[in-house]
Formats: sequence, C-alpha cells, structure tokens
Amino acid sequence: MIKSPLLQNSIIGISVSFIFAGYSLANDNYDVKESGPKSDIIWNQPIKATFSHKVHTMDAGLSCSECHDDIFFMQRGTAVNSQRFTMKAMDEGQFCGSCHDGDTAFSTKTNCMACHAASEEPIMWDQPTKAAFSHKAHVEEFELECGSCHNSIFTMKKGAAENNKNFTMATFREGKYCGSCHNGDDAFDSTTQCEACHFPPTEKIVFTQPVKAVVFDHNIHLKNGGLSCESCHKEVFAMKQGTVEGHELILSDDPVEKRKYLESLHSQYCGSCHDSSQAFGYLTRCTVCHVGVKGLKKLQKGEKKKDAHETSAH
Ligand code: HEC
Ligand code: HEC
Ligand code: HEC
Ligand code: HEC
Ligand code: HEC
Ligand code: HEC
Ligand code: HEC
Ligand code: HEC
Ligand code: HEC
Repeated sequence: MIKSPLLQNSIIGISVSFIFAGYSLANDNYDVKESGPKSDIIWNQPIKATFSHKVHTMDAGLSCSECHDDIFFMQRGTAVNSQRFTMKAMDEGQFCGSCHDGDTAFSTKTNCMACHAASEEPIMWDQPTKAAFSHKAHVEEFELECGSCHNSIFTMKKGAAENNKNFTMATFREGKYCGSCHNGDDAFDSTTQCEACHFPPTEKIVFTQPVKAVVFDHNIHLKNGGLSCESCHKEVFAMKQGTVEGHELILSDDPVEKRKYLESLHSQYCGSCHDSSQAFGYLTRCTVCHVGVKGLKKLQKGEKKKDAHETSAH
C-alpha cells in the first residue's frame, strides 16, 4: 500500500470547506446594510489572509465609518493594489494594524494564524525529485506556529530552499530544513517513510543499455510486493534514473569473465531481492525482466491503448 496522508488530508480539507460555504448561504438573518458584505474578503496575494465584516460589525460592534474610507476603501482589492499592504505597514499602525496593535485588538506581531489560514494547496518541488509539503497539515493538525519554521528554518518565499544546493536528504540528516524536526524525535525520521513526502513514478522504467530491454514497474513492487520505498532507495538504487545504466560495462569474450560480471551486476541491483528467496531468482526466469524488443513494443502499444481508453471514459 502507498501511504499518502498528505493527499488524503487535502481531499478532506476541500470537502469540509464546501460544507461551511453551504452553511453560510443558508443563514439568512444577515443584514448587509447593517453589517457589510456577508462573504469573507479573502486575499491570496502574496499570501492568503481573511477578513470578516460580521466579526467586526455584528460581533465587535464597530460602525462602517471606523474603517471606511479612512483606513480602507469600500472596494475589494484597493489595499492590495496600493502595493503597501504589508506586515511592516501593519506593524507600524496602518491598515489592519491601526487597531490590531495589541491594544484595541490583538497584535499583528503575534497572532499570525487568526488572519492567515493555512493554504490548502501543498507546496510542491519537482527537482531533483518530486516532493510535497503541506502548510495545512503542519499548522492546523500538528499545531505548529509560523515561527517554528519562519524564518529560522525556511524563509517565507517559495523557491528559496529549492535554489539552495544544500536542500538535500544529506543535510536533513544533519538536522537542517525538514530534518530539523524530522529526526525521529520531534517528528518521524526523514530516512524512513519516503512515501510520506515523495511520489513514485507511475510509468514503467525501461532500461535500454546496452541492448537488453529490461522493464521495472513500481506498481508491481509496491502493491503486489508490498515493499516500502526505502527497501530499494536507501542502498540499492538512487531515487533517480541512471544508477544501473551508469554501471561500467565489461565487453569481454571470455565466458567465465562474462558470467562473473553478469552475476555481480545482477546481484548488486535487482538480484539483491530476486535471489529465489525474497522474489523469483534472476537466474531462473530471464525473460520476465528481459522482455526483449518485441515484448517492449507490445507493452508500449498496450499502454497507449489503455491511456486512450482511460481518457475516453471521462
Ligand atoms: C474593521 C474594518 C471595517 C469595517 C468596520 C467595515 N469594513 Fe467594509 N471593508 C473592510 C475591508 C478591509 C474591505 C476590503 C478593502 C480592500 O480590499 O481594499 C472592505 C470592503 C467593503 C466593501 C467592498 C466589498 C467588495 O466586494 O468590493 C463594502 C461594500 C463594504 N466594505 C461595506 C461595509 C459596510 C456597509 C460596513 C458597515 C456596516 C463596513 N464595510 C464596515 C473593512 C471594514
Ligand atoms: C477599526 C479597528 C479594526 C480594524 C481596522 C481591523 N480590526 Fe480586526 N478586530 C477588531 C476588533 C475590535 C476585534 C475583536 C477584538 C479582538 O479579537 O481582539 C477584531 C477581531 C479580528 C479577528 C478575530 C476574529 C475572531 O473570530 O476572533 C480577526 C481575524 C481580524 N480582526 C482580522 C482583521 C483583518 C484581517 C483586518 C484588516 C483587513 C482587521 N481585522 C482590521 C478591530 C479592527
Ligand atoms: C490582523 C490580521 C493579520 C495578522 C494578525 C497577521 N497578518 Fe500577515 N497579513 C495580513 C493581511 C491582510 C496581509 C495582506 C494581504 C495578503 O498578503 O494576504 C498580510 C500579509 C502578510 C505577508 C505578505 C506581505 C508581507 O508583509 O510580506 C506575510 C509574509 C505575512 N502577512 C505574515 C504574517 C506573520 C508571520 C504574522 C504573525 C507574526 C502575520 N502575518 C500576522 C493580516 C494579518
Ligand atoms: C513546518 C514548517 C512550516 C510552518 C509551521 C509554516 N511554514 Fe510557511 N513555509 C514552509 C516551507 C517549507 C515553505 C517553502 C519555503 C521555500 O520554498 O523555500 C514555506 C513558505 C511559506 C510562504 C511562501 C510561499 C507561499 O505559499 O506563498 C509563506 C507566505 C508562508 N510559508 C507563510 C506561513 C505562515 C503565515 C505560517 C503560519 C500560519 C507558516 N508559513 C507556517 C514551512 C512552514
Ligand atoms: C518545525 C518542525 C517541522 C518541520 C521543520 C517540518 N515538519 Fe513535517 N511534521 C512535523 C510534525 C510535528 C509532524 C507530525 C508528527 C509526525 O508525523 O511525526 C509532521 C508531519 C509531516 C508529514 C506527515 C503528514 C501527515 O499528514 O501525516 C509530512 C509529509 C511532513 N511532515 C513533511 C515535511 C516536509 C516535506 C518538511 C520540509 C519541507 C517538513 N515536514 C518540515 C514537524 C515539522
Ligand atoms: C519529511 C519529508 C521527506 C522524507 C520523509 C523523505 N524526503 Fe527526500 N526530499 C524531501 C524534500 C523536501 C527534498 C528536496 C526537494 C526535492 O528534491 O524534491 C528531498 C529530496 C530528495 C532527493 C533528491 C536530493 C538528494 O538528497 O539527493 C532524493 C534522492 C530523496 N529525497 C530521496 C529520499 C528517500 C530515499 C527517502 C526515504 C529513505 C526520502 N527521500 C525521505 C523530503 C523528504
Ligand atoms: C523494488 C525496488 C523499488 C522500490 C520498492 C521503489 N523503487 Fe523507485 N526506483 C526503483 C528503480 C529500479 C528505479 C530506477 C533507477 C535507475 O534507473 O537507476 C527507481 C526510480 C525512482 C524514481 C526516479 C524516476 C525517474 O524518472 O527519474 C523515483 C522518483 C522513485 N523511484 C520513487 C520511489 C518511491 C516514492 C517509492 C516508494 C513509494 C519507490 N520509488 C519504491 C526501484 C524501486
Ligand atoms: C527490494 C526487493 C526487490 C528489488 C530490489 C527488485 N524486486 Fe522485483 N520483485 C520483488 C518482489 C517482492 C516481487 C513480487 C514477488 C515475486 O514476483 O516474486 C517482485 C516482482 C517483480 C516482477 C514481476 C514478476 C511477475 O511474475 O510478474 C518483475 C518483472 C520484477 N520484479 C522486476 C524487477 C527488476 C527489473 C528489478 C531491478 C530493476 C527488481 N525487480 C528489483 C522484489 C524486488
Ligand atoms: C529481476 C530482473 C532480471 C532478471 C530476472 C534477469 N536480468 Fe539481466 N539485467 C537486468 C537489469 C536491470 C540489467 C541492467 C540493465 C540493462 O542492461 O538493460 C540486466 C542486464 C543484463 C545483461 C547486459 C549486461 C551488460 O553489460 O549490459 C545481460 C547479458 C543479462 N542481463 C542477462 C540475463 C540473463 C541471461 C538472465 C537469466 C539467467 C537475466 N539477465 C535475468 C535484470 C534482470
């Protein structure tokens, strides 16, 4: 089984917000003239923040004129378009900060979560491997403060870590980036449960060097074989293509040399399991892996047909 809690969470998160949207539509006692626009004002740039008229007018008893038009215009987007709608400005007493100063209302310097709901969308990295991080899970479920990551571990800028050559598993193991918590103490160790953060390829991997067409399917190994990522990716294969193909070739005509070379090649990689104990032995069924040029063509045709079938079903 592939355990992917991240994806499950985002699906649950989306359906819950639909239920709330339906609820507020059904609530009809709200007077727009008395209390201002009913639906929340939500900013998404540069980050998500939410403002509720109801909380300020109905609940806190403020009148329209306390904000309009000295602090805010009655036109959604004006503050953002001014380019000055930043935390710095607020901390200096402008915009929301004219009340949220720790005196009239809670301060903008402390209560980040009150205004910044965590984004539903996970942050995704594509290079060098695909990985995901969910603000929603870390902030809402595990109840971490923004300050436990920002700005000591991560800057509040998408792509900053990615542009740093040190953003690797090796530095996580030394306690940097994700590894400052994912150390087996504060959160699960980043040298385990690779599948919590990474995604396996959905397409079959075909080794073509030098002439033999060998097919490897993640799906079979994860589902039928019940293997975890680290059973292959910790020692045997790097989590990228090219490990086997980078293997030095020995083109000897001596049959003994050749056999020795083939045995060492196979037992080092696929043969570390395919040894007749954990999985079928590589010496017994060559053609299960070496499908040959014909087998490969057949497989690729079958795959295309399957794809076409799947798209037409939508
Ligand atoms: C605590 C401050 C505050 C109070 C009080 C307040 N508003 Fe607003 N209002 C805002 C903010 C913030 C915006 C969004 C401005 C922006 O995006 O630049 C806004 C926007 C609006 C808009 C534009 C909505 C849109 O979709 O374009 C209307 C209409 C509005 N307010 C009406 C009212 C009325 C009527 C009252 C009194 C019943 C009121 N407001 C009280 C802060 C307030
Ligand atoms: C005119 C004063 C004033 C302004 C301007 C103002 N607020 Fe408030 N806000 C209050 C008061 C008063 C409360 C209620 C007391 C408290 O929670 O400290 C409040 C409460 C809140 C809450 C708490 C809601 C809850 O459910 O407890 C949020 C969130 C919030 N404001 C967001 C904002 C945002 C975002 C802005 C700017 C777009 C803003 N406020 C501008 C006065 C203001
Ligand atoms: C009273 C509501 C409120 C509180 C509290 C608040 N913010 Fe904001 N924040 C906003 C609004 C409104 C914006 C402007 C619109 C946007 O970017 O969504 C904003 C913008 C930002 C931005 C992008 C613009 C910039 O200044 O760089 C960051 C980053 C940010 N907030 C971080 C924080 C952090 C961290 C905290 C807690 C220390 C915090 N905010 C507390 C309302 C709030
Ligand atoms: C467990 C760690 C963690 C916590 C807690 C956390 N963040 Fe982040 N945040 C990240 C990471 C990782 C990135 C991506 C940084 C990068 O790409 O270099 C990020 C990026 C961001 C960005 C820029 C990217 C974007 O989506 O626009 C903003 C804004 C941000 N965080 C705001 C917040 C706020 C507000 C809070 C608290 C509500 C918070 N973060 C809590 C880890 C965290
Ligand atoms: C400030 C500490 C902290 C940092 C930094 C941090 N995490 Fe986490 N993370 C946690 C905690 C706490 C949990 C929940 C406990 C557990 O699962 O061990 C968690 C759980 C997770 C989960 C499981 C999610 C779920 O829904 O079950 C994933 C995936 C994850 N983190 C990915 C990341 C990634 C990727 C990074 C780096 C970009 C990162 N975390 C950085 C503290 C952190
Ligand atoms: C807590 C989340 C997390 C866990 C668990 C995790 N990784 Fe990563 N990994 C990342 C992030 C984030 C990156 C950096 C961005 C990227 O390359 O996608 C990364 C990068 C990588 C890279 C490319 C950079 C490098 O270090 O060479 C490889 C390979 C990799 N991980 C393999 C693994 C393997 C194998 C496991 C399990 C033993 C694993 N990861 C477990 C989050 C995680
Ligand atoms: C039975 C062994 C095995 C298991 C288990 C396994 N992999 Fe792989 N993986 C491979 C092999 C073999 C390659 C190709 C290596 C090469 O070309 O050198 C590969 C390559 C990859 C690549 C790189 C693909 C590319 O196109 O560059 C990623 C990403 C990856 N695996 C992720 C995962 C994840 C995530 C898991 C767990 C959910 C997993 N793998 C489990 C054997 C395995
Ligand atoms: C971590 C152990 C492990 C590694 C490494 C491994 N396999 Fe497997 N493989 C299995 C298991 C377990 C099964 C399912 C049980 C079985 O078929 O014997 C399996 C099944 C297969 C099957 C399906 C057999 C069938 O009857 O359909 C093929 C094909 C295969 N592996 C090819 C490969 C190739 C190619 C490699 C190297 C790139 C490789 N395996 C590496 C454990 C592994
Ligand atoms: C579990 C899967 C698997 C089985 C079973 C298997 N092989 Fe391989 N074999 C591979 C992989 C992976 C490679 C390296 C990729 C490539 O060369 O295409 C390879 C490479 C080879 C090569 C090329 C060596 C080179 O230097 O390029 C030969 C020849 C070969 N195998 C012969 C055999 C023979 C003969 C058998 C049966 C006795 C066999 N293999 C069984 C996976 C397998």
